[in-house]
Amino acid sequence: MINDTFLKACRGEKTQYTPVWVMRQAGRYLPEYQKVRGQVSFLELCKTPELCVEVTLQPITRFGMDAAILFSDILVLMESMGASLEFSEGVGPVFPTPIRSAKDLQSLGIPDPEQDLRYVMDTIRLLVRELKVPLIGFAGAPFTCLTYLVEGGSSKVFWETKKMMYTAPTLFHALMEKITAATILYLQAQARAGVHAIQLFDSWAGVLAPCDYEQFVFPYVQKIFSSLKEEDLPTIYFANNGATLLDYATRSGADVIGLDWRINLGDAIKRVGHKAVQGNLDPFALLLPEEALKTRIAQILEAARNAHGHIFNLGHGIHQYTPPEQLKLAVDYVHELSAE
Ligand code: CP3
Repeated sequence: MINDTFLKACRGEKTQYTPVWVMRQAGRYLPEYQKVRGQVSFLELCKTPELCVEVTLQPITRFGMDAAILFSDILVLMESMGASLEFSEGVGPVFPTPIRSAKDLQSLGIPDPEQDLRYVMDTIRLLVRELKVPLIGFAGAPFTCLTYLVEGGSSKVFWETKKMMYTAPTLFHALMEKITAATILYLQAQARAGVHAIQLFDSWAGVLAPCDYEQFVFPYVQKIFSSLKEEDLPTIYFANNGATLLDYATRSGADVIGLDWRINLGDAIKRVGHKAVQGNLDPFALLLPEEALKTRIAQILEAARNAHGHIFNLGHGIHQYTPPEQLKLAVDYVHELSAE
């Protein structure tokens, strides 16, 4: 039996305390992660199920999180589609041959997850045997994945992405279509391998005007969530910087709406109706002195009192220089205060 507090909150059921997990909870801020990473490259780590299991479990053991998130990366799906991917130290992800033409698009295929992403499926199968809390599978949302493919890596201005969107919309849609098809097969395979919930990360959706989001992005997000209905597991949509897109998120088909810290939680809860919410402490607020941090956590729990399910989380990934003890303090306090 696993502790199902997190799953209950996703479904909007009453829980004995507020469940908590943290985006990027397995990562560079943890010395035990650094130790593993000292021996292998990031991509080797992602492709070695035994090591992925080890780092996935690290934050569960250390902090007592209520859910585990599969250790992987959203970009391994792009690599399995045929895009060559590198992670260069200090730079982040790089696609040396960006996708910018119809010919480039043709070079991408739709992978068979059990073959081409076998290492992810094996990691999931190993993890569900060991875990005492639910496992969250995930993928990048199509627009976020597209930006990496088209820009050739991370970006701040998204020149190439928006250029394609405005000057070659047919190509843009065809690329979104292909990424969506690959993502659906990938997430369905994760569900069959045993994940208990699925989160779709739309890290860059917030750079779009709502009208462009509606036309170029929303139909694909909806398609993914509707394709997961049969899997019968809770789904979470997290659009970073998504306050202006909240009404879309609510209609996306996801069960839980992930919120970043830029929005007032109480206001967001009024707007999402009967959906559960996940969030939304500013990751940098973990640097606050103890009493101030506790006040911020108490404010979030208080604001979520009327939510139809609340999962405590950060508004985005934990920063790599965060002292782990601060996260421990936060997790313990969420558990303690919400159980009263
Ligand atoms: O604990 C977890 O959250 C699970 C693992 C996970 C990683 N990446 C591990 C990782 C998850 C869920 C992701 C998602 C991901 N990857 C997103 C969406 C979430 C978000 O943060 O918005 C995105 C956009 C990526 C792409 C990506 N991967 C980038 C931009 C980077 C570089 C980050 C940086 O700060 O340099 C990565 C690398 C990455 N993915 C690391 C980890 C732990 C660091 C790699 C290292 O060990 O050197």
